[in-house]
Amino acid sequence: MRKRMRIAILTGGGDCPGINAVIRAVAKKAILEENAEVIGIEDGYHGMVEDRYRILQYDDVSGILTQGGTILGTSKIANPYRYPIKKGDQLEFKDLSGVAIKNLKDLEIKALICIGGDGTLGIAYKLFKDGIPVIGVPKTIDNDLRGTEITFGFDSALSIATEGIDRIHTTAQSHHRVMIVEVMGHRAGWIALYSGIAGGGDILLIPEIPYEIEVVIEKVKERNKKGKRFSILVVAEGAKPKGGDIIIQRIVKESSDPIRLGGIGFVLGRQIEELTGLETRTVVMGHLLRGGTPTAFDRVLATRLGARSMEMVRERRFGYMVGVKGGDLIDVPLKEVARGPRRIPLDHPLLKVARSVGTSFGNE
Ligand code: F6P
Repeated sequence: MRKRMRIAILTGGGDCPGINAVIRAVAKKAILEENAEVIGIEDGYHGMVEDRYRILQYDDVSGILTQGGTILGTSKIANPYRYPIKKGDQLEFKDLSGVAIKNLKDLEIKALICIGGDGTLGIAYKLFKDGIPVIGVPKTIDNDLRGTEITFGFDSALSIATEGIDRIHTTAQSHHRVMIVEVMGHRAGWIALYSGIAGGGDILLIPEIPYEIEVVIEKVKERNKKGKRFSILVVAEGAKPKGGDIIIQRIVKESSDPIRLGGIGFVLGRQIEELTGLETRTVVMGHLLRGGTPTAFDRVLATRLGARSMEMVRERRFGYMVGVKGGDLIDVPLKEVARGPRRIPLDHPLLKVARSVGTSFGNE
């Protein structure tokens, strides 16, 4: 009697809409086509180190396509190679990769499918080098992963951000105010760029283009002079002034990527109000951008990626992730992700399009 194939799924890093659609696609395809046993590892790499997992039956993944977040739980701090251990108010880090790898080997899995961003997939690559058959599925609202032109989660975050900017127009126009919408995106400005264009932002500030406050002020004043008695700024959390620094909201010391951005919108708001005399308010969309049901685009993309990851198991394409190129799915070496964030190239056509309709990036 041939032993049933066993597939393990892990979700790591920040949650986003679409993760459950990937889990559903992987599990349904594995069960329907391979009669596989599907194991869901709980809370990202925490579950791998602590040997916490559950069997996913076909019914467990029915009805989760539209559900945000991840039914398996996730973590942005668990790293088997640098596992945070709190002892009282002391924090130490231990390499528990041996424990994690033994737990996986004891499960006798054919493959581990890791759904995550650069942190999660960077660890997945290390596990692959340590002998674990890993396939990666890139995930992040930030859309900043090398090796793929888009990540699921981005379109959903984009639609939430755009709706927020649309709504902010109401109060800006009514009170003749400068309204600042700060959006996530970590070290890249993809969410700010796309939602800023979609939402008709007048000034878009992104990490890739350090801004000059004088230019921002001039643009606001110019709009005011033309009778546009309000302005909308869309600001990426990683945006910073020329010669200045990012605004850090908190340090998560347990995390391998400890910096948490946030607050640049308030710094800018105070400066604009002081330098223009115009009433200014700031809204930080933050984790709202990771909430709720995935858009139809993200549901389809997530389903495609999940199904393809199972084909890659069959083809034994371990050490690779499913990337998107020209709308098609390609196999991308996992090590590609570890080369740092994919930022907006300064010759990106959307920058030119935005400028051509009068949008300012605060630098000229
Ligand atoms: O990477 C996704 C993301 O939402 C970033 O856009 C943001 O900077 C970060 O995660 C927030 O991390 P946390 O969920 O730990 O606050």
